[in-house]
Parts: sequence; structure tokens; C-alpha cells
Amino acid sequence: MVTVEEYRKAQRAKGPATVMAIGTSTPFNCVDQSTYPDYYFRITNSEHKTELKEKFKRMCDKSMIKKRYMHLTEEILKKNPNMCAYMSPSLDARQDIAIVEVPKLGKEAAQKAIKEWGQPKSKITHLVFCTSSGVDMPGCDYQLAKLLGLCPSVKRLMIYQQDCYAGGTLLRLAKDMAENNKGARVLVVSSEITVVKFRGPSESHIDNLLGQALFGDGVAAVIIGSDPNLGVERPLFKLVSAAQTLVPDSEGAIYGHLREVGHIFHLLKDVPGLISKNIEKSLLDAFQPLGISDWNSLFWITHPGGPAMLDQVELKLGLKPEKLRVSREVLSNYGNMSSACVLFILDEMRKASTKEGLGTTGEGLEWGVLFGFGPGLTI
Ligand code: COA
Repeated sequence: MVTVEEYRKAQRAKGPATVMAIGTSTPFNCVDQSTYPDYYFRITNSEHKTELKEKFKRMCDKSMIKKRYMHLTEEILKKNPNMCAYMSPSLDARQDIAIVEVPKLGKEAAQKAIKEWGQPKSKITHLVFCTSSGVDMPGCDYQLAKLLGLCPSVKRLMIYQQDCYAGGTLLRLAKDMAENNKGARVLVVSSEITVVKFRGPSESHIDNLLGQALFGDGVAAVIIGSDPNLGVERPLFKLVSAAQTLVPDSEGAIYGHLREVGHIFHLLKDVPGLISKNIEKSLLDAFQPLGISDWNSLFWITHPGGPAMLDQVELKLGLKPEKLRVSREVLSNYGNMSSACVLFILDEMRKASTKEGLGTTGEGLEWGVLFGFGPGLTI
């Protein structure tokens, strides 16, 4: 008979979790940031709020975003005027859209990841799905498993409402699952759409206006497993360590409430300051054990919550401008897609590194850092 110790050892993988494939997707409807203020004030019947419109224009101009994707088209919004008001009961209509679209968009990204991975989908053992919209029962994880035709025995986990830090959370959970279950192949999916957050402007809620200027829809899927079968599986990144922490004295910096009017979102002005003031402690905790203290020796994947976020982190840590180049590019081309952003950046970085013939998928460097932040504040 085997001992418990032997049995446990045989259950574990040998090596670290690796990222084996990445797929991304967006809705078709693309929004041009330069014309968005005119569109947004027209569709929300708010053209008479001229001062607010000027403020919104300044926010859009300074956002460093060129375009974003949004499932909510003019046609959908015209059919749902309550979504265009600042505060009108509209949750049912929003939910009807989200519970269909969130898993559907997830399917597109997951299919791309599975295609790149090149293995039969029956080999997926775990599915972790995160979204900030579309709470339902059974959840998006169940819907996606059905849409993809995954094995009924796939072990599923659904994460709701964690917003912008959940891209990192997905990787952290998948790392534990892959390393603790020999042969595990974990599909993680982040599917974010702004259907619950879209609303008209109000003088009493300026941070809502900021959210309307920054957020976009986007979906990313990643396949993670340990001990890749090197003949057929291609490790892109090794996940060496993962952590999570709360920023001291940051309560209420980002928070939201799900109400009959949809998701009411709050974002204090000091968020970039709070993050940049506290980021070095997280870096020291993660990299001191590895003997790394030069932040410019790392490749960087940073949640681009807004340009001020990136500027202040760059300044505080003395990062060279090229370090946050890919994070800025994703912000510019997609806006703030909440939890999906860091996974888009991971994808863009490895593609660019391969295209440029660099020695590693992380801009030719050996070590890198991926950090997300969001409600709490949580890093
Ligand atoms: N809440 C309310 N208004 C805000 C705001 C906030 N959190 N942040 C900025 N604003 C307003 C400013 O008061 C200013 O209004 P004004 O033109 O009437 O004076 C306007 O937005 C533009 O801000 P400004 O300071 O002139 O420009 P900027 O270079 O800082 O760019 C942002 C504005 C919003 C793009 C930038 O501050 C940013 O990236 N912020 C971070 C957003 C964030 O925290 N994202 C995290 C989400 S996960």
C-alpha cells in the first residue's frame, strides 16, 4: 500500500506553472475616443449640460486612449433609454445582455487560446472565469463550459466583481491549481463588458464621468499548466511567485454598488498616488528573495487604469520610458478593460518579442512583473 506522503507527492506537478497559450477578443463595435464626447452626450440626451460635456472632453483628451470596443451600440442604447439616464431602473435589461454576451465573448477568446495550445479541449481539467458583470445561476463558468463543450468533470470556479485586479488573481489561482494537480491544464477567462456600468452624466458624480471616459470591453483567455509536454506544448512564461496585498489607508478609493440602476462606480482622485506610494513594498516582497532590486532589469505588465497611474508608477520607481510601452499601447488601443488588461498586455508583449526576434517572450529579459490593482485598494 502507498503511504499518504507518497500519494500526495505523486499528485503534485514537478515544475512551476507555465502560460501555454493566450487568446483575446473584443466586441465588433469600435468607439473613436476623439468623437466619443459628442456621441455620449447625444445618446444620453445630455447636450444641454455644456459644462459637463467640456469636462468630459478634457477627460477623454487626457485619457491617452485612441479607441475602445463596446458591446452597447447606438441601436441597443436607443432601445434601452433607461440605461442612458443617470439613474433609472435598468438592471433587468443590463442583465439580459450580460448573461448572454459575457460567456459568448469568453468563448471567442478561449477558442483562440485552445487553438494555439494545440491540444484537445478534453485535456482541460480546470476552468476559472472572472467578470464584473452578469451574475447569474448557474454562472458564466457553466455557460462557457457548455459553449466550448468541455468535459462535464472540468473543475470550475467563478469570480465576480473583483474588477481591475482580477487578471492577476486568475494567474495566481491557476498557478496553485497547476502546481498542486499533476497534469492539470487550467483555462482562465476574463470577460469584461461595460453594459452594467454605462450611464448618463451627472454633476453630482464626476467619477462616473471618468469611468465613462476610460472603460472598454475586452476578453482574454489563458491556458496554464506545469511540466509542459515539450513536443506539443510551448511554455511562454513561467509563473514563479504570486501574491496579493491590501494598500494601507486606501479604504473607499475604488468601490461600487450593484443596484436596480446598474453598477454605480466610484473612483477617488488619489488612486494613482496611493498605488505608486505603495508599489515598491510589493516589489521588494516579491523580488528580494530572488536577489533582484533593479526594477529596470524587469519586463513590466502594469494594469493601465489610466495614464496617471502609469506616469506615477514610472516616476516613483525611476522606470525607463520603454518599460511601460506595451501597457500604454494596450490602454491606447482598448481603454481600461478592467481585469482583462494585464492579459492583453501579456499577449501583446510576447507577440512583439517574437516579432522582434528577442531571446525571451518578455522583451528578451529573464524576469518580469505583472501587477493589477483594483477595489479595496487591492494590489
Ligand atoms: N474623479 C473625478 N474627477 C477626476 C478624477 C477622479 N478620480 N480624476 C481626474 N478628474 C478630473 C479632473 O478634476 C479634471 O477636471 P477639470 O478639467 O474640470 O479640472 C479632469 O478630470 C482632467 O484631469 P487632469 O488632472 O486635468 O488631467 P490628467 O492628466 O490627470 O488626466 C485622467 C486625467 C483621468 C486621465 C488621469 O488623472 C488618470 O489617468 N487618472 C487615473 C484614473 C484611475 O484611477 N484609474 C483606475 C481605475 S482602475
